[in-house]
Amino acid sequence: MSDATLPRKVKIVEVGPRDGLQNEKESVPAAVKIELVNRLSQAGFQNIEAASFVSPKWVPQMATSAEVMAGITRRPGTLYSALTPNMQGFEAALAAGAQEVVIFGSASEAFSQKNINCSIAESIARFESVAKAAKEHGLRLRGSISCAFGCPYQGEVPLDAVADVVGRMRDLGCDELDIADTIGVSTARKTQAVMLRAAGAFHLDRISGHFHDTYGQALANIYASLEIGVSIFHSSVSGLGGCPYAKGATGNVATEDVLYLMNGLGIETGVDLDLVVDAGQFISQHLGRKGASRAGNALAAKKLT
Ligand code: HMG
Ligand code: MG
Repeated sequence: MSDATLPRKVKIVEVGPRDGLQNEKESVPAAVKIELVNRLSQAGFQNIEAASFVSPKWVPQMATSAEVMAGITRRPGTLYSALTPNMQGFEAALAAGAQEVVIFGSASEAFSQKNINCSIAESIARFESVAKAAKEHGLRLRGSISCAFGCPYQGEVPLDAVADVVGRMRDLGCDELDIADTIGVSTARKTQAVMLRAAGAFHLDRISGHFHDTYGQALANIYASLEIGVSIFHSSVSGLGGCPYAKGATGNVATEDVLYLMNGLGIETGVDLDLVVDAGQFISQHLGRKGASRAGNALAAKKLT
């Protein structure tokens, strides 16, 4: 039964192929990434973050992004996104047929420097040309705001700093904005406060919650976000991931766990949990370790009995 006070429908953006895999030390072959994206496409996601056109010196794992984008079987109804920190990344994403490009900044000055080697103001100036080019080519534009709930280098991040970057990204013409807990430190009420502040400067129905699960709070943060009407969430199959420039940060909340929650709440996702469990098993086997999704592992074990 669905709860009348929560959204009836949510969009789950699967970020495992990008946010998940970018943190893997061992190079994952493009063929494995392609198979993973194809499996996730079949599961019915509306949006998959499949690639990242960043410097291969900074994030070597993403160097195969063009090959991945060229090799996947695109499902009508799924939007394939790529990270683009600058025009060089944008040109590559355009050539690779990305339908959505993601400019990624930060609410923390310290993290901005570590992650993209420039200040917040410099990043926004850099994003201007990417945003303009995206519009000219009819691509969807998403903005991602790291460290909106805390920073590994500067600690507390003021609400004003979040609102400021939300406003700047809105002014660049972003169609959707991700409010990211890069290091998974937020808790439920704080999450609501940050989300509501972001919603003061951007459309609530185009704000997404991007929660890493470092402190085991991601599902609670998602539920708290649902309570105030947020209806877009990012997650990684099998809980893969972390950020190479956020020490100690673990993966995103696991997609299987989020889907299990949504199914239990009667909230529509359009995604087949069973197929995501299989995709999670596939990538975990390749990586040679047990997946990090509790629901995924439980459901996979049940299938074997
Ligand atoms: P830079 O060194 O300041 O850039 O890096 P530059 O313009 O001076 O260029 C230096 C070199 O990089 C040149 O090559 C460029 O060609 C190359 P060289 O002449 O030395 O051989 N280069 C590129 N190569 C490929 N694609 C490009 C590109 N741009 C420059 N697009 C830069 C600035 C932003 C490029 C660099 O800092 C970078 O690539 N950072 C990547 C950081 C990253 O990917 N972090 C992880 C993703 S963000 C994340 O995970 C957070 C998120 O999940 C939300 C959350 O959880 O918080 C989204
Ligand atoms: Mg992330």
